[in-house]
Amino acid sequence: MVQIRSLQAGDSTAVSDVVTQCLREINSRDYPEEIIARMCAYFSPRQIERLGEERQVFVAVDNGTVVGTVSRDGNRVFTMFVQPRMIGHGVGRRLMQHIETQAAGEGYDHMETGASITAHGFYQRLGYVDVRTSETEFGFNYILRKPLRGTRA
Ligand SMILES: CC(C)(COP(=O)(O)OP(=O)(O)OC[C@H]1O[C@@H](n2cnc3c(N)ncnc32)[C@H](O)[C@@H]1OP(=O)(O)O)[C@@H](O)C(=O)NCCC(=O)NCCS
Repeated sequence: MVQIRSLQAGDSTAVSDVVTQCLREINSRDYPEEIIARMCAYFSPRQIERLGEERQVFVAVDNGTVVGTVSRDGNRVFTMFVQPRMIGHGVGRRLMQHIETQAAGEGYDHMETGASITAHGFYQRLGYVDVRTSETEFGFNYILRKPLRGTRA
């Protein structure tokens, strides 16, 4: 049974491992090796700790093992990754529902996310719609939004 909880001291290496495994095994299908290497270097355990000081970071835990992560700054979504062997089992949807419910409870009327090419269809499936595209230091991204009020997260 997968549970969602806040990042805790001691999670950073496990979260970094999930992100880097995902980048190497999944995102590498859509992005050049140079960008994947840069992202893997960026998402070190120390950087996960720093992100935990700047944003609300959540993890999905399955039998004590971190299998996914997402973070939130208000209504903005960051760092959504699911462990490759757990992809397609509803972990990403659970993580998004968790932060959408929190943002709605704080009065935000929409969520906004930057999506990789790899995750674009996932966000669309969850009701997000394209707003624009952007080029970042980590390559091409879609920017999508989803209304929160009057919709089911
Ligand atoms: C994108 C990602 C987070 C999705 O996580 P997940 O746990 O596999 O997603 P879920 O199983 O909760 O899927 C929810 C729904 O979205 C659909 N979906 C998931 N990924 C999809 C994709 N790439 N394209 C289209 N639909 C997708 C699922 O089929 C499911 O639909 P259903 O409810 O009709 O069955 C995961 O694949 C991942 O970590 N990808 C690589 C990392 C990445 O790109 N992260 C985003 C950075 S912006």
